[in-house]
This record gives sequence, C-alpha cells and structure tokens, in this order.
Amino acid sequence: MEKKVFIETYGCQMNVYDSELVKTILAEKNYSLVPVESMANIIMINTCTVRENADRKVLNRVHQIKNSRNKNEIIIVGILGCMATNFKTKLLENPNLKIDFIAGPDSYKQLPQLIDTAWEKGDKSFDVTLSEFETYSDILPTRKEGVNAWIAIMRGCNNFCTFCVVPYTRGRERSREPANILHEVRQLVSEGFSQITLLGQNVNSYRYDGVDFTDLIQMVSDIKGVKRIRYTSPHPKDFPEKLLKVMSERDNICKQLHMPLQSGNTRILDKMNRTYTKEEFLSLINLTRQYMPNANISTDIIIGFPTETENEFEDTVDVVQKVKFDSAFIFKYSERPNTRAAKKFPDDISDSIKTQRIIKLNEIQNQISLNKNKAQIGLNQKVLIEALETKRSKNEFQARNDGNQIVILPKSNLSIGQYITIKINDATRNILKGSYIN
Ligand code: 5AD
Ligand code: SF4
Repeated sequence: MEKKVFIETYGCQMNVYDSELVKTILAEKNYSLVPVESMANIIMINTCTVRENADRKVLNRVHQIKNSRNKNEIIIVGILGCMATNFKTKLLENPNLKIDFIAGPDSYKQLPQLIDTAWEKGDKSFDVTLSEFETYSDILPTRKEGVNAWIAIMRGCNNFCTFCVVPYTRGRERSREPANILHEVRQLVSEGFSQITLLGQNVNSYRYDGVDFTDLIQMVSDIKGVKRIRYTSPHPKDFPEKLLKVMSERDNICKQLHMPLQSGNTRILDKMNRTYTKEEFLSLINLTRQYMPNANISTDIIIGFPTETENEFEDTVDVVQKVKFDSAFIFKYSERPNTRAAKKFPDDISDSIKTQRIIKLNEIQNQISLNKNKAQIGLNQKVLIEALETKRSKNEFQARNDGNQIVILPKSNLSIGQYITIKINDATRNILKGSYIN
C-alpha cells in the first residue's frame, strides 16, 4: 500500500520549519506527501508543549483523527516535536490515545525507520534522544511557495528560564555554520523569496567560530536580492548595542523587534531566572528607540507566575504603559513538568486572579496598540504584497509593512512579491488599511 503522509503543525515558527525539514526527509525516502489529512494513512502531529492548553489541543486532535476513521482503515499516528521529548514513552503507553510512534526535535532523520517499524511490524516505535550536534544543516526544507522564508540559525536553549520547558524538549544550544546559512539564503533568493526571518530560541547566543549574531545578520544583509530581514527572538539580558546600530544603518534589516519582557517586576524576573531588572529592560527599550525611533516592538508577558503579588503585577502594567509595545502576547502562567519553577514554586495564583490580571493587561495593551496604529494614518509606507486575497474578501490584497504589520489594500494589478509605497488610511488594533498613491 502506498504510504501517504500528512503533517499538521502546532506551536512556534521553529515547528513550522521543522515540519518542512521532515517533508524533505520523507520525500527522499519515497513517501508521498498529501495536502489533507483525510487522504493520508500516516498522520503526524508536530507538537508544542510550552503551555498546558497546547498539550490538550493535540490530545483532542489525536482522538478526533482516530474517531473520524473507519475502524477497518489502516492508519498510523505519530507525535513529533516538543511533546514527544517532554512526555516520552508515556504517550505510547496511554491506551486511550493509540499513538503509534513518537520522534523528538533531534530525531527526524530516524523518522523513515520509526514509521517503517510502526507500519510494517505494527510495533510502537520512538526516538526522543536530544543531540548536542544535530542542526539539520544538510537538509533543505520543503517550503511553501511564497515570498517569506524562515531559516533556523540555531537550535535548543541554554537559558533555563524557570517557567520554560524548551531547554528540556529541544536540548542544548547549537549554532549552524554561517557558510551553510548563507548558501541557503542565496538559494532562497534565487527561488523568489525576498523576506527572510532568522530563527532561534535566543538568537543573541548564536556563535560559530567567532561569528556572532551581529556578524551573521550583516552577512545575510549583504546578499543581493534580500529585501527584508527579520529575526526572532532575542533575549533582553544580552542584547548587544552593536546589533541596534547595524539594524539602524541597514535598509534591508526591518526596524522591528520581538523583545520578550515576561514580567516587569525585578523580584519575579529573578525567580524566573531572566537575569535582568525592570530598569535594565526599560533602558534597553530606550536605547533601541535612540537608534530606531519608530521601531515596531512586540513582546511576550506571563502573568500569575508563582508568588506574584498585586503590586508586582502592577510593575508589569507600569512597564507596558511606559514602553508602549506595538503588540503583546500575554499568557497565564502554566506549570510545566520538569521545569525548575514546577519543582521549586507551587502554582499558587488562582485562575480567577490570573484571569483578572490578563483581562486588565489586555485591555491596556489593546488601547495602546489601537492608538499606535491610528497614529500611522496618513503615513506613506513601503509594503510587500503577500496574498491576492484576504481571509475576509477576494477583493482585497494582503501586504506587510516593515514593522511586520498586516496592511490591507484594494485589489489591483500588482502581484505577489512586489514592494510598493502606499498610504495608510485606516487602522484597527490588529490591522492597517492602505490606499495606492498616484
Ligand atoms: N506558562 C506561560 N507562558 C509560558 N511561556 C513559556 N513558558 C510558559 C509557561 N510555563 C511563554 C513565554 C515565552 C512564550 C513563547 O511562551 O512568554 O516567551
Ligand atoms: Fe524558554 Fe527562556 Fe529559552 Fe526562551 S530563553 S526558550 S523562555 S528557557
């Protein structure tokens, strides 16, 4: 029987990238990749486990897949990614789930054998070993056609923020060789991708034979045909000033940053092992704005970390009000197995207090986002056309500005991949609308 594979991806951009690597690995072994789950007999879910609700979503999905199929149909289901390394063989032992194989983020080259074992012999198979060396630099991801390409420049994380499971699920930090990254960028440009996003759990830690992240981004920026470069995510603790300088000087590096705050209170930041203070974070934002006054800055925030008092939460509100982020992803603290916080600090903030705090902070941030977007009305901005329709309408185009914001434009004779200067004429808290300048 033909082996027809479908991969569904949850979580961060690194997972999207990894699924593209998996597609290449399987295509080389003559598996057919199918575009919808119902056509497949091998279904893989690439998972995230950063918060508890991410786990729940995936487990529900596994049930749904199994229940939607005729009992006589042969299908096998595999779990890839962070849930595989976090829960290991417990996933296979759960009789309600009937998962056939699991593979962690460093085990994708083993997938053909793992699938064969499950498929040919009907045995459950797994590989959740983490590697200190695997960077998949010899594999070119199977990307969707388009104009945006993401490139992993490093894998893993050594920071051990106490709330975070990533160092346990993705293992130790390792950087890819610059020559190899630059080769991939050149290839992407020749295929029509002009917007490149460099990915890593903490890109400031990128290091290879004396080349650091600032050196690397300059090398990427020097490649002809790269029109926009973004990266995610840096860590505020070791963000180098020279990177701000390079960003401010180079036209093809977007004036956009995702700078995860996590908390605005120094005691909580210390308990989170973030190794910066409220004041240091604020100074870094000031410095960023000295170099790039109009930089688009987004952030991640966790509310309700163990022992967080009302006053300490107010420090986070204070930072949000002072910085005026363009956007923020705000999460309720979710205790994750194996993390230092789970071992040392009971999850003692009730869900109702977490809910109150998240509602309050979201309201404040939404107003700031709306005001900042409205302030852009009347400005001329260069945008990249990314889609010839939007979710809502076939008569609109979707474009993106330098700040990584979506700009809706009227339909026209432009095509995907074109850059054009437009005028912003309307704004909500999530979206800008523009018109053509004649
Ligand atoms: N609980 C809530 N949010 C978390 N994040 C990471 N771990 C947790 C957790 N245990 C958030 C952080 C991180 C983002 C990717 O997810 O804000 O920056
Ligand atoms: Fe998790 Fe902290 Fe590493 Fe980010 S830097 S992946 S939050 S441990």
